[in-house]
Amino acid sequence: MKIISKLSLSLAAAATLFVVGCSAAKTYSEESLGLRKTNLYVEEAETVGDETKYDKSAAGSGVFIKRAFENAPPMISHDVEGMLPIKIGNNSCLSCHAPEVAAAVKATPYPASHMTNYRPDTAIGKDGRITKQGGSVDNTADFRNVGSKLGKLAGARYNCSQCHAPQSGKGQLVENNFQPDFRAANGANRSNQVTNLFEGIDTLIK
Ligand code: HEC
Ligand code: HEC
Repeated sequence: MKIISKLSLSLAAAATLFVVGCSAAKTYSEESLGLRKTNLYVEEAETVGDETKYDKSAAGSGVFIKRAFENAPPMISHDVEGMLPIKIGNNSCLSCHAPEVAAAVKATPYPASHMTNYRPDTAIGKDGRITKQGGSVDNTADFRNVGSKLGKLAGARYNCSQCHAPQSGKGQLVENNFQPDFRAANGANRSNQVTNLFEGIDTLIK
């Protein structure tokens, strides 16, 4: 009898502690956790996205956007109305950004990296050996791909909007405190990726 009452007493004490512990814990509602602060289970009128507002400056108006970091693909600083989507036989970006016309329309020509093929010709022989750019390689990681100059736009760069996007001035849900470091004096406005693409990749240098 004594034992039972002792046991039930300690159980009761444990239960009280548990209840006290639970009520002290802070609770969070699902809505408070996300960026959207409205009911997550219904799409009511109170749930509205921030309005996307692309820059309406016409190409040639001289507006530029600073690069986010060294060699980041620059944002398109002008209106792209009527220029997208890019199609196989219709890429209006080329009519101003191709090196042969860019100066005439005061646009930045696409850089040398866009006229370089970074995809080595690769083949596997009947004996299973891998050939890259005509040379047999034992281990593909040993192959140092420095790219080959094409003298024209690389097919891999044809779809400009895959990497370059217009920027919306509004709709920043989270403040961006990132501070880029540019090593070149004009790094916020120009690229030099073709000269330093392999920088720091020691494993490729044998
Ligand atoms: C009518 C000519 C014209 C067309 C077409 C055009 N651009 Fe431009 N683009 C410019 C000019 C000029 C600038 C320089 C900024 C300015 O003066 O607006 C520029 C700036 C840019 C920049 C910023 C470059 C930098 O160094 O910051 C990017 C990226 C860009 N354009 C990409 C594109 C893409 C992608 C397309 C196709 C969807 C395109 N442009 C179509 C003329 C054009
Ligand atoms: C695979 C991604 C990719 C594609 C596709 C691409 N670019 Fe770029 N672009 C970049 C990156 C990354 C940079 C900056 C680094 C570099 O290459 O020098 C850049 C840089 C540029 C610059 C700035 C050059 C300078 O001297 O500062 C222009 C202009 C540009 N691209 C235009 C274009 C146009 C026009 C197209 C389509 C014909 C295109 N790009 C396709 C990734 C891309």
